Amino acid sequence: MLKRKQFIEKLVIEAGELIRERLHEDMSIEKKGGKRSDLVTSVDYEVERLLVEKLSQQFPEDSFLTEEKTVDLIESENVWIIDPIDGTMNFIYDQRDFAISVALYSKGKAKLGFVYDVMANELIVAQKGLGVTLNDKPLEQILPVVLKQSIVDVSLKTIRNLKIKEIADLYDLTPEILTNRNMGSAAIRIVHIALNRVHAYINDNLSIWDIAAAILILEELGGTHNFKGQDLDYNSEGFFFMAANNQKIYDEIKTLFFK
Ligand code: IPD
Ligand code: CA
Ligand code: CA
Repeated sequence: MLKRKQFIEKLVIEAGELIRERLHEDMSIEKKGGKRSDLVTSVDYEVERLLVEKLSQQFPEDSFLTEEKTVDLIESENVWIIDPIDGTMNFIYDQRDFAISVALYSKGKAKLGFVYDVMANELIVAQKGLGVTLNDKPLEQILPVVLKQSIVDVSLKTIRNLKIKEIADLYDLTPEILTNRNMGSAAIRIVHIALNRVHAYINDNLSIWDIAAAILILEELGGTHNFKGQDLDYNSEGFFFMAANNQKIYDEIKTLFFK
């Protein structure tokens, strides 16, 4: 496992360098499925191809589950779950606050997780049972917060969709918490819970590649989320996701705002 970990750390940093170079060049931008807020660029595809090519050369038995579907999933024991750029909207407009997310799973169970915030140059790495590092420095367990002191990352889109679907009404969330934010990268924000920068993250519509690496990082440092304790279903897409600093504030948000 150490061999795999060291290999992918170098590879993810190489992919980050490629993204930084491409920021100064022309790139194509497409709407996925015609949706104006779901964008993909030529760089997303290029990064995904680079990761898949190098990983499959090194570990020919392994398979891949990737957001941009440059390769089909033919499930083998080891599955790499890849989101080449999480936060593509930020990548295009802000040129910051996006990440490369790579995770290694075996039969639905997490083994390794890597989230690389490219412009902040922060590489967070988790190995199941062996904790988490940030740029090679070991991280401490999460410090618990109370709801009134918590910062919650949630978008207007999620608030609206949860209300329309009659799942939750988050309109009155603000008085119960310290404040809310919405950064636009699921992987980074889930990891930020592990880093004590925010304390909860709510999204009504995520996919496996958005969370696969970040949830291992979060779990290793004591955080919680709605799939904790379950094996990951490689086929699930478009699901509700909530993560939190601790079980108490997770339950309080659920009780106060969810039906
Ligand atoms: C998206 C980001 C965004 C979240 C979306 C995701 P992408 O991933 O994580 O923050 O709200 O649901 O699809 O498309 O930039 O990889
Ligand atoms: Ca994503
Ligand atoms: Ca993506």
